[in-house]
Amino acid sequence: MKTVVITGSARGFGLEMMKEFRKYNFNCVLCDINDEELKNGYNEVININGNGKVLSFVMDVTKKEDVIKLINNTLNEVNSIDIWINNAGVNQADKYFWELDENSINKLIDIDLKGTMICSNSIIPYMLKQNSGAIYNVEGYGSNDAKMPKLTLYGTAKRGLTYFTESLAKEVDNTNIIVGKITPGIMLTNFVKTSLGDGEKIIMSEKNKKIYNILGDYPETIAKFIVPKVINNNKNNVKFVWLTNFKAFTRFIGAIFKKRDIFK
Ligand SMILES: NC(=O)c1ccc[n+]([C@@H]2O[C@H](COP(=O)([O-])OP(=O)(O)OC[C@H]3O[C@@H](n4cnc5c(N)ncnc54)[C@H](O)[C@@H]3O)[C@@H](O)[C@H]2O)c1
Repeated sequence: MKTVVITGSARGFGLEMMKEFRKYNFNCVLCDINDEELKNGYNEVININGNGKVLSFVMDVTKKEDVIKLINNTLNEVNSIDIWINNAGVNQADKYFWELDENSINKLIDIDLKGTMICSNSIIPYMLKQNSGAIYNVEGYGSNDAKMPKLTLYGTAKRGLTYFTESLAKEVDNTNIIVGKITPGIMLTNFVKTSLGDGEKIIMSEKNKKIYNILGDYPETIAKFIVPKVINNNKNNVKFVWLTNFKAFTRFIGAIFKKRDIFK
């Protein structure tokens, strides 16, 4: 039986992906910094029909000792770690870059960029010994080099994450490990309502609400699309994209004729 670890899987996209993996009989290892949400997430996953074990660990992706403990604790319970998804991530406050304080800058870079690096740095030596394993990093706004006011910090972190992922894929090219990207598009999760995980509330502008209603989706919809692709993949340096340019185009055309309201 294969095992998947997803960081930031207490809620949102991470949790929805985990629920899908459970349906495919994976051992499911949830981990998150938020203890309370993690308990809820664990209950949601265990209540889905599936044969694998379900484990949950409180941890912080920015702390190497937490990541190592997570790996060791997981391997006390299961035989292998086959898929690792670096999903934990936070949004920035709705502010210009010069309005952000030093702590917010450090925290976002630590979680969104360095967290992915620390987890990859910790799991790859194990996967090399195991002689197999797949790592996927979750992209976000800025990954494709798009730019927008008040998303400079987040976009910089995700652009960096994309460079990191592609470069890492080159490094593992002659091994039995694969590295890839997951590009989920726009999802209605806590991420769009709160900055820095559980920090300042983000009030969504009417313009952004319109965009969400056209291009946005629920995380479960995207998880159902992505997870089978991840399970069936054996190629290095892949990218699984939900919101392709073509889909975005058809959504804008569709919006002329039919209004969606995903906030209902
Ligand atoms: N929601 C969107 O529109 C959107 C779009 C593109 C990409 N993404 C990316 O998707 C990923 C998941 O986001 P989401 O929308 O599900 O948000 P979310 O806030 O619902 O989930 C993120 C999870 O990460 C956890 N987390 C935060 N800091 C952590 C840390 N230091 N250590 C461990 N866990 C931590 C949170 O507690 C939370 O459970 C993120 O990487 C985000 O950047 C989101």
